[in-house]
Amino acid sequence: MPETVALMPQPTPATAPFTVLAPGRVNLIGEHTDYNDGFVLPMAIDREVTIRVRPRRDRIALLSTDREPGTTTLDLAQPISPLACGPGNWSAYPAGVLAGFQQLGWEIPGFEAAVSATLPAGGGLSSSAALEVATATLVETLCGRSLEPLEKALLCQAAEHTFAGVPCGIMDQTAVCCARAGHALLIDCRSLERRHVLLPAELSVLVINSGVKHSLADGAYARRREECAAAAAGLGLASLRDLPAADATARLASLPLPERARAHHVVSENDRVLRFTEALAKRDWPTAGRLMVESHWSLSRDYEVSCPELDQIVERALILPGVYGCRMTGGGFGGCAVALVDAARAAEIGSLLHESYRQATGIAADWFLTRAAAGPRVMVSAS
Ligand code: GLA
Repeated sequence: MPETVALMPQPTPATAPFTVLAPGRVNLIGEHTDYNDGFVLPMAIDREVTIRVRPRRDRIALLSTDREPGTTTLDLAQPISPLACGPGNWSAYPAGVLAGFQQLGWEIPGFEAAVSATLPAGGGLSSSAALEVATATLVETLCGRSLEPLEKALLCQAAEHTFAGVPCGIMDQTAVCCARAGHALLIDCRSLERRHVLLPAELSVLVINSGVKHSLADGAYARRREECAAAAAGLGLASLRDLPAADATARLASLPLPERARAHHVVSENDRVLRFTEALAKRDWPTAGRLMVESHWSLSRDYEVSCPELDQIVERALILPGVYGCRMTGGGFGGCAVALVDAARAAEIGSLLHESYRQATGIAADWFLTRAAAGPRVMVSAS
């Protein structure tokens, strides 16, 4: 195997084979706040999507993955349509990104792309955002030009809206594009201002997969968005971001259910993100952990996006010494939970939680400890 070196997209178009990698993300706190113009605090993880790329001399793209049979063929000289990949096909995500670059007027050369991943699909760890951002990095490398990271995140989000039919917020793509190793990313989803927040070495981040399949495309996510928009309209606000937590109880009383409960979650969650960030800066891990737990029960009871299995993980995690906090992470309806734990005991906590969850549910959950990783990268052959 020839040695490889990591490079960002180079200012000259790539003609030799190369590999792009983009990380998944776990959200520490700030769930279902991004599409309400609120605050989120995700971090990129050290599990990723990898695309091995072989440039071609024509304008044809051939997309394949080791997870599903078949190859998608796209003619890059023609506008790519959302119907190009067939209903529910995984290649809608990369195809949407390619279409986004076409709309910017980029002439994308032909290529073969083989996708693989160490990220579980449908686990709520943004495998789709990782695939989109890896594809965008592939196009930058092929074309020898780059977008600004935020522009790239917006292009990937638009691909998910129009090609995958998921009306997602901007958190996942921004977390993946803009991540810095060792840091979480505080994002103000209204202004899109970002701040890197150091995660100290005494803390470990544990991710445990409930094993319950998560799908955002089935309409429940879109319905939550609509309920939040209806709540904001009912209060005469542009978005729920405009309601301060201190005024919430009195103002929300006028709303019907479920809008009142949805809005209560969003307003209280925005406040928790800011308090969590302050607690980290003060090295006050118990307070940070408590805010994660409050976030979980707010998502479970007010937002109704948890499930019995995720609730079990949280309850069982909190009994274990060295666990500061635990909550579901991502869109919900299954997927993963995230725990903030004492680094010295992290591995032991992971296996105890795995065993306790297995006894309760019969599910042998996949779990791992992760570092806060950096954003996308490109590897080219050194020879
Ligand atoms: C999914 C979406 C994000 C965000 C989360 C919930 O991951 O892609 O935009 O809304 O759900 O916080």
